[in-house]
Amino acid sequence: MNIAVVGTGYVGLVGGTCFAEMGNQVTCVDIDEAKVAKLQSGTVTIYEPGLEVYFERGIRENRLHFTTELAEALEPAEVVFLALPTPPAEDGSADLQYVLGVADHIGRLLSENPDWGYKVLVDKSTVPVGTARRVIDAVEKHGLKAGEHFDVVSNPEFLREGVAVDDFMKPERVVIGTDSERAGDIMTRLYEPFVRSGNPIILMDEESAEMTKYAANSLLATKITFMNEIANLCDLVGADVDKVRRGIGTDSRIGPKFLYAGIGFGGSCFPKDVQALHRTAREKGYDFKILQSVLEVNDEQKTVLIPRVVEALGEDLSGKRIAVWGLAFKPHTDDVREAPSHEVIRALAARGAEVVAFDPEAVETTQDAFERQPLEGPGSLSYAASAYEAADGADALIVATEWPEFRRPDLERVRDNMRQPIVFDGRNVFDSKHMAGLGFTYSSIGRPSFSAEA
Ligand SMILES: NC(=O)c1ccc[n+]([C@@H]2O[C@H](COP(=O)([O-])OP(=O)(O)OC[C@H]3O[C@@H](n4cnc5c(N)ncnc54)[C@H](O)[C@@H]3O)[C@@H](O)[C@H]2O)c1
Repeated sequence: MNIAVVGTGYVGLVGGTCFAEMGNQVTCVDIDEAKVAKLQSGTVTIYEPGLEVYFERGIRENRLHFTTELAEALEPAEVVFLALPTPPAEDGSADLQYVLGVADHIGRLLSENPDWGYKVLVDKSTVPVGTARRVIDAVEKHGLKAGEHFDVVSNPEFLREGVAVDDFMKPERVVIGTDSERAGDIMTRLYEPFVRSGNPIILMDEESAEMTKYAANSLLATKITFMNEIANLCDLVGADVDKVRRGIGTDSRIGPKFLYAGIGFGGSCFPKDVQALHRTAREKGYDFKILQSVLEVNDEQKTVLIPRVVEALGEDLSGKRIAVWGLAFKPHTDDVREAPSHEVIRALAARGAEVVAFDPEAVETTQDAFERQPLEGPGSLSYAASAYEAADGADALIVATEWPEFRRPDLERVRDNMRQPIVFDGRNVFDSKHMAGLGFTYSSIGRPSFSAEA
């Protein structure tokens, strides 16, 4: 099948590359000329495990192409994916300017080139209920007719950054929202090779498909947030959230996943999707109270360790060196959008700390982020070449992302080279008693703390 993918970010690049791996002819379009030039020269522009192998094969076997020209990708395509940003607007709603702008451009190109034939336009971006209808309107405005010249399908993406290639190649389910039998058949044919193990392709109307994506992300964000609140309460009553997690996760109605307490969720999806669903509800006159709480609790959770740092080192952190392990919003990605680590760093720098951070993949993206929105306050941020280097001479170490390499470091080496052996574990990666045995003052999320002097 011939496919166009508009937007070559985390979703578009992974999706386009995986469609090419299945033998399809794929052309990815992006307006970012530097990004397209890099991709054309054979360089993958994001860090995503497993992507490079498929990417290189797609290019080598001439199935995967990149361009800045929408027309070049659109002309031969049977299916056109819109994998465009939908960032939060000022009021929290999803900003649809990119999606609707491209839909308008597609409408213009199709009306000028009637011989390009029927196209299936697919909303791959996470978009509010009613967007498929708005995309239809944007294209029909150019004198075209849905059902005849084109159809619009809602096909939300459920991939997780860090395991995006696996998720795309073997999705647990594929949701296809359309009332058009013709478009539904084409989409089913496209996705069948990805669900050969029997996972379902679920056909539904556009509105339900759009809502499915928001419902999924909001429920997952709620589950994490609930567990973070349980952890905060565990701290107050002397319970251990790890034990509670095992105690409840074995209940099949609850399940073991997404029950890990920590310093909050981040990323490009959960925060903005919860906000957008909350906004949709409000527009309809419905007060979706849980979502408001999820957002508030998560904001507070990101800096839940700061009062403990202050208690240990004082309100004024000038002259204190603090190591931060992990910058990405979660392991196995270089994505730092809404990363809790950044809030921690901002809070430390505001109090004068000299922060030294290490992340195996997310230093460049962090540098970009702090260039766009600089740190405020007397403190500073620098980057170390390794986790050990970051901890050398530090008065405290904060674990902000649970990269595997942080789980079993040489903790004696870390302890011996720190100025003070104090660890704030924002992701519960270490065993509390083991840390206490090694002589650390150790504090984590929802588990007993240990003081080196005790
Ligand atoms: N990142 C995820 O894990 C994930 C998962 C599921 C769904 N989503 C959703 O998918 C959508 C895309 O997310 P992402 O993380 O890939 O975004 P991204 O910001 O990484 O990528 C978007 C790309 O679109 C390009 N672009 C912007 N305007 C364009 C235009 N007019 N023409 C062509 N290209 C244009 C940008 O240059 C960028 O490369 C969002 O709606 C997001 O909510 C993301």
